[in-house]
Amino acid sequence: MRPDGVLIREGSTDILVPETHSVHGPGKIQGSVFFNEQMSFNRDVSVMFLRTMGRDMTVADAMTATGSRAVRIANEVRGTTVTANDISSDAIPYIDANIEINGLDNCVSSNRNMHALFAESSFDYVDLDPFGSPAPFIQSVVRGCRRRGVLAITATDTAPLAGAHAAKCRRRYQSEPIRGFMCHEGGLRILMCTIARELAKYDRGMKPLLSFYADHYYRTYVQVTEGADAADSTLAQLGYMHYDMETMERSTSRLPDAEHRLGPFWLGPLHDRDTLMAMDPAGMAAERRCNKYLDLWRNELDTEVFVYDMSELSSHIKMSPPRIDDFIGFLQEHGRASKTHVSPTSFKTDIPLDDLVPLYRDFSPDRGRHDS
Ligand SMILES: C[S@@+](CC[C@H](N)C(=O)[O-])C[C@H]1O[C@@H](n2cnc3c(N)ncnc32)[C@H](O)[C@@H]1O
Repeated sequence: MRPDGVLIREGSTDILVPETHSVHGPGKIQGSVFFNEQMSFNRDVSVMFLRTMGRDMTVADAMTATGSRAVRIANEVRGTTVTANDISSDAIPYIDANIEINGLDNCVSSNRNMHALFAESSFDYVDLDPFGSPAPFIQSVVRGCRRRGVLAITATDTAPLAGAHAAKCRRRYQSEPIRGFMCHEGGLRILMCTIARELAKYDRGMKPLLSFYADHYYRTYVQVTEGADAADSTLAQLGYMHYDMETMERSTSRLPDAEHRLGPFWLGPLHDRDTLMAMDPAGMAAERRCNKYLDLWRNELDTEVFVYDMSELSSHIKMSPPRIDDFIGFLQEHGRASKTHVSPTSFKTDIPLDDLVPLYRDFSPDRGRHDS
């Protein structure tokens, strides 16, 4: 018998979800089975991402709740064989109903503790979307990920990762978070560092394919690479940071020292350009939003770590901020610069701070040109 609920449509998939469910924001646990409509964008990204893989894949959605992501993948990504797993027995009738409603023969429900599931079985793609921190589950998803597979991990514990609860970040991630304008890039890079360090224990490394901050969560997709050399070169991309809020000075260091006490962070790229270029938002539930983010991800200067923010510069220089698009256009005459996806007021540039400050001071938004 089908459980009670309402039918919603996401992408080209129908999903039966409990009538009482979250619509906006981080999503509260409201009934016995969780569903958050706002995460449709997150699920869209999974579909767009997996379509770029170009090969048949076994997929495990480790914490699937209603099965929403699992059935969308099974229904919308050709060549997938999906295990929709949740520890809650209340979730299973929803998962089974959603498999039936969409007529799927490539998706099965599974009622396991994910630690037990991944001790026995491994998959080409493993998705982890827990309540709060993924830290207690990362070791198991690494075990459950096949050679050269892909891990997709969500963290909704933004307060610890972004430095609002630094003590909790130290406990969960053994990392010193960064506060201020860089906090969300910092949170994302701490999550990625944690995954890299877990993989290294098994002589495995990673290549990030897509990593982002949106709404109330961080999310990263990493390609697992195999062998001690891969692990070593991954660990070589971790490091520490110094940031002085007064002077805006920042620098990174591979090893911690008296100055570089923030972190460790992942200091390598967030994305793989080929993957981003291959992602197609046509037909997604949040197509306009997918387009907007794809544009930001594809164009952000991924060689630079840690953003500047227009408000940071204007409060430092005591000038009202110009339009960010005008200023970035101007910076591009002097070096490389781009918007970033983490905030509409932040940007990245390879122009050193000593040059950036006078450029900002002299930039005239009225003329859109430098004075000289
Ligand atoms: C945030 S919800 C997942 C939401 C879902 N991915 C979606 O897109 O709608 C987290 C789920 O993890 C499940 N869960 C918690 N601990 C688990 C474990 N050890 N093994 C498997 N599932 C678990 C919970 O029952 C809950 O349904």
